[in-house]
Amino acid sequence: MTALDVIRAEHRALAAVIHGLLHGVREVRDRGARPDAALFEAMIRYIEAFPERFHHPKEDRYLFRCLRARDPVSASVLDRLEAEHAEGARRIHALAAELARYRREGAAAFPAFAAEVDAYATFHWEHMRIEEVEVLPAAERHLQPEDWAEIDAAFGSHGDPLFGVDARTEFASLFRRIVELAPPPVGVRPTSSGN
Ligand SMILES: [Fe+2]
Ligand SMILES: [Fe+2]
Repeated sequence: MTALDVIRAEHRALAAVIHGLLHGVREVRDRGARPDAALFEAMIRYIEAFPERFHHPKEDRYLFRCLRARDPVSASVLDRLEAEHAEGARRIHALAAELARYRREGAAAFPAFAAEVDAYATFHWEHMRIEEVEVLPAAERHLQPEDWAEIDAAFGSHGDPLFGVDARTEFASLFRRIVELAPPPVGVRPTSSGN
């Protein structure tokens, strides 16, 4: 897989987890389902463990750096996206804190957690949209084979020079856990009649 394939696949995985968070919140808010705090926690941990620690830093360090050098016109959108990477880290910590508060304080704290989930989803979808609509096409136009050699090595499953190769295994097992914990349509957990 090329770096572009990996980035798009990671965006789809992240979008699936964000969709899972939103779906879980709506089930509670609109249909009175019992909140599954362990599932919410697994989803947030996934976002903290992979996109925040690996995906965004690699974009900054490899893709964006190379594109800045080849296409100065991209600077303003890359500035914005890099600032959003920092903001995303703050937002996911806020989300984890709201979930912890909900677990301590119970139902009264759920609306604040739900609002944080909504805000994170909107923020992150727009971020990925700009990357896919503006940055990846600009990279395809401007980057040179030697740039891609470095970027593909960083994003590929082997020979990851900055982050080590174990992350992808951890990432896959966290994702599998979410799928196992979540009921359809997000995951595969059998739904019990009381749910
Ligand atoms: Fe990004
Ligand atoms: Fe991205």
